[in-house]
Amino acid sequence: MHFDDNVKKLWEEIKELKQERNAVILAHYYQKPEVQEVADLVGDSLELARRAAETDADVIVFCGVHFMAESAAILSPDKTVILPVEEAGCAMADMVTAELLQDKKKELPNAVVVTYVNSSAAVKAESDICCTSANVVKIIKSIPEDKDILFVPDRNLGAYAARKTNRKIELWAGHCPVHHELTVEDVTKAREMHPQAKLLVHPECPPEIIELADYVSSTSGLLRYARESSVEEFIIGTEEGILHQLAKENPGKHFYILHKEKLICPDMKYITLPKLKESLEKMEPQVTVPQDTREKALNCLQRMLDMK
Ligand code: 13P
Ligand code: SF4
Repeated sequence: MHFDDNVKKLWEEIKELKQERNAVILAHYYQKPEVQEVADLVGDSLELARRAAETDADVIVFCGVHFMAESAAILSPDKTVILPVEEAGCAMADMVTAELLQDKKKELPNAVVVTYVNSSAAVKAESDICCTSANVVKIIKSIPEDKDILFVPDRNLGAYAARKTNRKIELWAGHCPVHHELTVEDVTKAREMHPQAKLLVHPECPPEIIELADYVSSTSGLLRYARESSVEEFIIGTEEGILHQLAKENPGKHFYILHKEKLICPDMKYITLPKLKESLEKMEPQVTVPQDTREKALNCLQRMLDMK
């Protein structure tokens, strides 16, 4: 991919500011290519959470969405955590609140609450263990057979984990509006256009799409599959930002997005290089979590991170 001189100048300025602040820049695979390129680590939710917990930088600049920056603040309370654009949220995370979860827990007193990392700190504080799409199957398998399971908030990911583990799971009625809009017709059309291509999808997709896929995984899992596969063409059923790393890691292979308009997460696209630079200059917007919420949410996140 070609980047113009203006982008290169901004990279230099951001790198200088980063050194002055002793900051680390973490970016999710769904970020804009020019933002991914200036980051110290580009990763999936699990990799980014691990790095946020381990970094020795003073400042963590999170190029992603609010719950990711919040997780960094929970894991590294002594660091300054910056989310360059305050409004960058997650529509799925907003589909559950701590109050609604408290009510549901009363209905299911024997249930272990497994909460997707795409959730607020307040919701994590009400949960037993966290998961990402990279470790959901492992986390569900770790729960004793005599326990009920409530999975929050992504019903598609929860249903996928239930099928993979053969466990009965109570599902919260949340979903990712980006992945959930995909239809069987979208798959049919894409396969007609690219009959040789393998279909790789994220487990946030609805079950009927997962059923049709050749491979289902988190963003890092999809990248690994594309790298290791001898196939040369792939239809990608996740947010389009991932195409940048796919193309970068696989020169000569071809990647087609399953649906051009649907697979864009507007929140993931809020962060631009000028916004990133400005946030390092001003050292804001900062993300913090109240102490009592932080302690409870940390238990939920730490149980996940302790599972190797
Ligand atoms: P992963 O990178 O963990 O697969 O997460 C996908 C996602 O939707 C993040 O918002
Ligand atoms: Fe949330 Fe979906 Fe956007 Fe990920 S892609 S941040 S789950 S709305």
